[in-house]
Amino acid sequence: MAGRMSVREFMRLKGRRRIVMITAYDYPTGLIVDEAGVDAVLVGDSVSMVVYGYPSTHYATMDMMARHTEAVSRAVKRALVVADMPFMSYEPSDRDAVLNAARLIRAGADAVKVEGGEEVADRIRAMVRAGIPVMGHVGLTPQRYLVLGGYRRRGRRREDAEAVIRDAEAVEEAGAFALVLEYTAEEVAAEITRRLSIPVICIGSGRYCDGQVLVLHDVIGLSPMQPPFAKRYADTRSIILEAVRRYADEVRRGVFPGEEHVFHTKEEP
Ligand code: KIV
Repeated sequence: MAGRMSVREFMRLKGRRRIVMITAYDYPTGLIVDEAGVDAVLVGDSVSMVVYGYPSTHYATMDMMARHTEAVSRAVKRALVVADMPFMSYEPSDRDAVLNAARLIRAGADAVKVEGGEEVADRIRAMVRAGIPVMGHVGLTPQRYLVLGGYRRRGRRREDAEAVIRDAEAVEEAGAFALVLEYTAEEVAAEITRRLSIPVICIGSGRYCDGQVLVLHDVIGLSPMQPPFAKRYADTRSIILEAVRRYADEVRRGVFPGEEHVFHTKEEP
């Protein structure tokens, strides 16, 4: 494939093969996840928690998202780059949504992602009308954890399952090209995946979706706290800890720098 995957190519993956999305927040990890061959890279607002150490995604700002989107965009050559619209960057008005989404597109994103269902359908419509591809995000929507009563599982009771299904359908109907479905019962996720004609990318919502997304720092073992649905594929924290301990030890013992790391004054002829 020459160049980045387009939104149309991403949509055509539904029903053909499982789609892989992962987060990245900077240039080096953007290079790595792209080389690994993922289909989409999400510059998630989870950056505020996993990179900056804030207690929730409420602390992500447009400046933060634009800077990280620029860094990731410089690295990613093949995958679709999706940037999260942070808390309160789209809720107040269609105008806010369009102008802030445009800023992320100019930072190098191919599409933006917004959280919410029926309540953000008008915002999605406005952005799509302005020419900006939008990925939806329903089920557990971390930006709304205060009204949801915490980071709660969705769709355990029929009434809540129906609310999530209505949200998913509203997002598709508003013109989103794909949907992230977070922490929702597997049967509900399967039903949404069947009903929608756009790709449904799950996180903590089971096996019967069009694809999966995880937070990179959970995958590589760098998150201080990991959600129960994430899988750790590597223990990078231990690797970094060991490397820094060895470096400190070698400096203290006078082993580093060695002869190979220094240069000398030239002898005058
Ligand atoms: O910000 C993020 O990392 C996300 C994923 C959890 C899908 O939205």
